[in-house]
Amino acid sequence: MTDCNDVPNSIEEEIRTVFENRSDDEFQPGETPVRLSSPTYGTEEVIESLDSLLSTWVTMGEKVETFEGQWADYIGTNHSTMVNSGSSANLLALKALEGDIIKPGDEVIVPAVSWSTSVFPIVDVNAKPVLVDVDPSTYTIDVEAFKEAVTDDTAAVVLVHLLGNPCEMGPIMDICKEHDIAVIEDSCEAHGAEYDGQKVGSFGDIGTFSFFFSHHISTIEGGMITTDSEEYLDRNRAGRAHGWVREMESKDEYVRESPEIDERYLFVSHGYNLRPTEIQGAFGIHQLNRLEKFIDIRRANARKLNAEMDQFDDLFDILHERPDTRCSWFAYPILIRDEAPFTQDELREHLESKLIETRPILAGNLARQPALKQIDYRQVGKLEDADLIHENGLFVGNHHKMGDAQIEYILESIEEFVSEYA
Ligand SMILES: Cc1ncc(COP(=O)(O)O)c(C=O)c1O
Repeated sequence: MTDCNDVPNSIEEEIRTVFENRSDDEFQPGETPVRLSSPTYGTEEVIESLDSLLSTWVTMGEKVETFEGQWADYIGTNHSTMVNSGSSANLLALKALEGDIIKPGDEVIVPAVSWSTSVFPIVDVNAKPVLVDVDPSTYTIDVEAFKEAVTDDTAAVVLVHLLGNPCEMGPIMDICKEHDIAVIEDSCEAHGAEYDGQKVGSFGDIGTFSFFFSHHISTIEGGMITTDSEEYLDRNRAGRAHGWVREMESKDEYVRESPEIDERYLFVSHGYNLRPTEIQGAFGIHQLNRLEKFIDIRRANARKLNAEMDQFDDLFDILHERPDTRCSWFAYPILIRDEAPFTQDELREHLESKLIETRPILAGNLARQPALKQIDYRQVGKLEDADLIHENGLFVGNHHKMGDAQIEYILESIEEFVSEYA
């Protein structure tokens, strides 16, 4: 953190008072909503941002760089590159592999239950998305379905650690090594999630994260790309900033090759402008300090919910953290079993009537989304489990501002709903 020399102490005190007096922290069952997410930032982020505003250094600079270093250390990769969203991170991850690894017409495997911008960037590198089914008890890519999807044209896979639950990285990485498949880990919902003690986003060639407002931690909008490769780092740095050479590690070589061009305006690759601002960097620096505590709260909430929800095992398929993993619980998913005597709509209406916010499991089965009609993709099998999640799944919030009162209220509301059908 900077000293924030430009921000007067009196302002800091006033801001602290505003945050301390926020009434939305007080939960009244049936009167205040149980939200899907809650703001993750406080006084420190605001002061650090004000410091940037008052210093007038507001575009990408030192604070972004500091956060990038901290994030790489946290995830356990050599490098990380901050961008303006998780979607931009996915785009640049695919772009980094374009050419040497992903060639026009190659296939890139992606789970059918993921996010729109887990899939679209595959098309942007002239490859074909291959949608495969997911395992409904983990919400992550079905390992057998993945194996079946691999062909001679498979260049890469976009793994998605959906809802903070890590994919089966052991068997998946074995398949990828055997078939020489590059791995992008879309970890946009899985901050701090671990498989065998290792953080997701550090297994594959490239990892991506989102810091959108409703995620575990937030930089308002924002994203990060993690990698051990200096080559991908350079491609990401050029890709996020116009394709110019300025932040590249290999800058000197390029400058030597083009002595007639002003090095400040030397463009060496296909780039965009996907840069974050210093305000986003300012948020990130302080948000990271809060992340582990937030994850602990989410995991404690999930344990309490699961302990009671297990009695309804005949009605709901409940997500459990596998022993070799740390799930960071993006939310609390509920999957209604086909045999249950009620529907997704009925459960949703009941919960919403109790002011418990709900939403579908991300984009549902993406093959059913109209946008997919516009792209050339391949589907492996019938995607029956993706359909099950589409038709029978929803999630409620599980975040750092929720505690016993909200958990008990959710459980009471579900028990009341279930008893109507007993
Ligand atoms: C799995 C996944 N990938 C990518 C994204 C895109 O992130 P962003 O909203 O920051 O663009 C999201 C968004 O929540 C997501 O859930």
